[in-house]
Amino acid sequence: MDVCVIGAGYVGLTTSAVLASFGHHVHCVDKDKERITMLLEDKVPIFEPGLEELVIENKKKGNLVFSTQLGKAVKNSSIIFIAVGTPLSADGRADLSFYQAVTNELSTLIDSYKIIITKSTVPVGTNSELERTLLEKGVSADYFDVVSNPEFLREGTAIYDMLHPDKIVVGVNDPKPITMVQKLYQKIQAPFIITSLNGAEMIKYASNTFLAVKISFINELAQISDAYDVDITDVALGLGTDPRIGPHFLRAGLGYGGSCLPKDLASMEHQALKQGITPHLLKAAQTINDLLIDGYVNKLKNKVADLQSKKVTVWGASFKPNTDDTRHSQALRLIERLKEEGCEVHVFDPAVTVDHVKNHQDMYESVNESDVLIIATEWKEFIQADWALVKEKMKGQVILDCRNCVSPRTIKHYGFTYVGMARP
Ligand code: NAD
Ligand code: UGA
Repeated sequence: MDVCVIGAGYVGLTTSAVLASFGHHVHCVDKDKERITMLLEDKVPIFEPGLEELVIENKKKGNLVFSTQLGKAVKNSSIIFIAVGTPLSADGRADLSFYQAVTNELSTLIDSYKIIITKSTVPVGTNSELERTLLEKGVSADYFDVVSNPEFLREGTAIYDMLHPDKIVVGVNDPKPITMVQKLYQKIQAPFIITSLNGAEMIKYASNTFLAVKISFINELAQISDAYDVDITDVALGLGTDPRIGPHFLRAGLGYGGSCLPKDLASMEHQALKQGITPHLLKAAQTINDLLIDGYVNKLKNKVADLQSKKVTVWGASFKPNTDDTRHSQALRLIERLKEEGCEVHVFDPAVTVDHVKNHQDMYESVNESDVLIIATEWKEFIQADWALVKEKMKGQVILDCRNCVSPRTIKHYGFTYVGMARP
């Protein structure tokens, strides 16, 4: 099939490469000229394991082309994916300006039948609104069908997630395009969940908000467990073995960040309030997450006198390991907070450099003469660090583990003071 994917970010680029690997002919379009120039030169502008190889392989096969020209890509495609960003606006709403710019442009370009598939996460009602807008703008009803097909991939494992999803959600108001969508994805083994446009949009928000609530639940329990000297990792283990609960998303620590959980929680709250519904649980999840930094900084202050004059090294700045994405990163919030406290902040992250702090290329050099080491993102290299070497380099002995990713016993064995939340 000929497919146009609009947006060459995490979702658009992964969708393009995966669909091309299935043998579809994919035209991936982005308005960002620099991004497209890089892709034309076989460079992938984001850090996503395996993506560069898949992009290059499918470009070579002739299945994947990149361009900034939407007109030609739309003309040559029967299926059009919208995968542009829908970031958080100041009032908590999803900012639909990129999405609307694309749909406005599409309304001027469609001159034969197309299936328009929204992959971007958009508030409930957006796809139905798109149907109405296209009709109002004079696009014939025979020339399009709108499908909501939200994406559930995680950054860092994007290709694997897209190839092995636990479901493919397809929202439609008219069943006509379903067969084509099923054909498009026929190489993927996963059940289809067919629902309305609104239903599909809601499933996406339900997933991300549930994950955020689950993380905030375990983080609240971590604070209570801390007061009773209970190890939260044991609690998570005991809790997660119950199949009704499940072991995933029970890692307590610095909380959730990233481009989606915080924004989708805020957007769902906004969507509830718009209907006169107070989203008590969603608000609580956000409040808990926002306060986690305070909890860790207070822990540190209890252990380190005169924190303001100390050299503090932070390992990890991305919002989670295996990505260079720092959007809504809790680690970055922590770094800002440490600067406000007056600390001399040094940072090492395998994929990210941070503005207005001293960045290091080498994780061991970054702890030279440091008073405190903080693990803010659980990259594998931190979990497997050579603690004897770290001890040799550091001046102080406090290690604050904000991701419960190293063993307190190991850390203590090397002569450090381990500080964590609910890690006695
Ligand atoms: P992104 O910011 O990485 O990429 C979006 C791309 O769209 C950018 O390259 C931008 O230049 C391009 N773009 C914007 N306006 C355009 C236009 N008019 N024409 C062509 N290109 C345009 O975003 P992302 O992380 O891939 O997220 C995209 C959507 O998918 C969001 O709604 C997000 O919530 C959702 N989502 C993201 C993830 C994830 O892990 N990142 C997972 C599931 C769903
Ligand atoms: C998340 C969802 O997991 C995806 O299903 C979804 O498609 C995506 O958002 C999206 O809509 O964009 P992602 O943001 O890539 O994916 O990252 P996650 O792995 O979900 O982690 C999110 C945040 O939660 C990270 O900051 C991570 O450190 C934190 N987290 C995760 C915890 O604090 N504890 C956990 O147990 C799990």
